[in-house]
Amino acid sequence: MKPERAAKPAKDKDSWQTLWPSQSPEKSQPLLQALHILTRDGALNADSRRKLTQVLHLTQLLRPALETLLKDGGEPVLADVGAGKSYLGFILYDLILGPAGRGSVVGVETREQLVETSRALAAAAGFDRMQFIAAPIADANLAGGKTDMVTALHACDTATDDAIRFALRHEAKVIALVPCCQAEVARLLDGKDGALRQLWRHPIQRREFGAHVTNVIRGLVLESHGYKVRVTEFTGLEHTMKNELILAERHQRSNAQARRELDKLIEQIGVKPALLDVMTP
Ligand SMILES: C[S@@+](CC[C@H](N)C(=O)[O-])C[C@H]1O[C@@H](n2cnc3c(N)ncnc32)[C@H](O)[C@@H]1O
Repeated sequence: MKPERAAKPAKDKDSWQTLWPSQSPEKSQPLLQALHILTRDGALNADSRRKLTQVLHLTQLLRPALETLLKDGGEPVLADVGAGKSYLGFILYDLILGPAGRGSVVGVETREQLVETSRALAAAAGFDRMQFIAAPIADANLAGGKTDMVTALHACDTATDDAIRFALRHEAKVIALVPCCQAEVARLLDGKDGALRQLWRHPIQRREFGAHVTNVIRGLVLESHGYKVRVTEFTGLEHTMKNELILAERHQRSNAQARRELDKLIEQIGVKPALLDVMTP
């Protein structure tokens, strides 16, 4: 009889440390426990594994842009809007801005209680270049009026549009959006006639088409403002159903061709979402 192979301890492959992109994960354990991503015993449950995987994926995608901003003594300002518990801000600080000794994170979140908790956590962790604003994204204005990078991870419905307006008014160089549910365009399309009406006749298709068109419009709005836009899958669908990443990097002041495409699309579908208020007539 063949000797049974010893099973690899489940702990190894399931350990959060295999996900953590740093040489010394143990240093980050207290932070991850305070964020309730890890339990008190240092374990990761299925929900927090999903969240951690998403946030780490975005961290790796943003790392090159952040490192470019950090070059030559830069002090990049990153605004994470609709921040929730600020997982993304804390992890970007812990992995990139903290070790660099430069750059800051501002979290914008309406829920006061979450902001208070984040402030306390940043103070306890010694993350002194993190701050938090308790306000709707639409009302938030950063000191100096500028930011280098804006992130909005699953900011609900039109909060993603508020994130775009925020990024434009703060002249962000890099914008990363992972939109959440979207209802505005589906509402506008309801009962709307037009050559393409079959695309939105049934409610479920109207909802999906509305969300899709919304993200297409968001991309074209950003392109019209001079951003180079990439739209990709965010993480595998097993991690989240809200899976589209819109990554925009500014490379010119404006783009007339993108503007023409946007105007053409709006004419074809016959509805005007509120985000178009960022477009000059
Ligand atoms: C689905 S959660 C995502 C939180 C976080 N970005 C993440 O991925 O873990 C969306 C958060 O955005 C906040 N939020 C929604 N609309 C907002 C707005 N207009 N201004 C500021 N925060 C907003 C909500 O309170 C909530 O905490």
